[in-house]
Amino acid sequence: MGGYGDVQMIDDKGLRMDGRKPSECRPIEIETGVVPVADGSARVRWGLNDVIAAVYGPMEAHPRKIQRQDRAVLDVRYNMAPFSTTDRIRPGFNRRSREISKVTAEALESVVLLELYPRSKIRVEIEVLCAEAGTRCAGITAASAALAHAGIPMTDLVVSVASGKVNGVVVCDLNKEEDNYGEADLPMGILPNSGELVFLQMDGDLSQEDFKIAWDYNMEAASHIHEIMARALKGGDA
Ligand code: CDP
Repeated sequence: MGGYGDVQMIDDKGLRMDGRKPSECRPIEIETGVVPVADGSARVRWGLNDVIAAVYGPMEAHPRKIQRQDRAVLDVRYNMAPFSTTDRIRPGFNRRSREISKVTAEALESVVLLELYPRSKIRVEIEVLCAEAGTRCAGITAASAALAHAGIPMTDLVVSVASGKVNGVVVCDLNKEEDNYGEADLPMGILPNSGELVFLQMDGDLSQEDFKIAWDYNMEAASHIHEIMARALKGGDA
């Protein structure tokens, strides 16, 4: 989110550098069962993002100090593969991956019926194979599909998407240039059945009016992505 106003990302026809209209989401495909040894798994290909989530558990929580007597804990790890971007990512946890793991766990905790599994742990591994902005959203979306695929009881799915603002125009589902050089980024985690929010971060500045447009774009995209996710979970094509 550099806010470089001089980087031209909307052309004379009002289209974005990848040819999308401001209201358009990148193409998205969801597939389940991609990690056969996991209890549940999902792959989300979203624009050039390629993200896999695998779920293991519920299992006994170890070490015992992490156990909660009244509920399960969600152990979420978001990681970018070293080859997932043009700059090689140093393997292992860093400040950004810890932050994304934490916000992802908090978003998912809102829907998973953790109280059904006291003293247990549910492990959620999110691996970004290819990154093109919005990987936290793709990760949350993949993790929620993987949890549902694992048969973990949930009150709803979570779909996450980030709209924002570039060259003074509010746009849906930011790509990498828009994320890096745009004026604002608004990732949201949405429960598609109730329309409730379980996650919201904001980077940059949006007027109240622009915030409303970005919010509506995220809500519309979430409903579209939910249909794709529901089809994937029923075993149909993405
Ligand atoms: O991926 P997301 O938009 O959720 O998070 P970000 O921190 O706003 O990163 C935006 C994009 O920058 C990522 O999706 C990657 O494409 C890129 N990035 C990178 O190339 N190297 C990093 N160490 C972190 C991010």
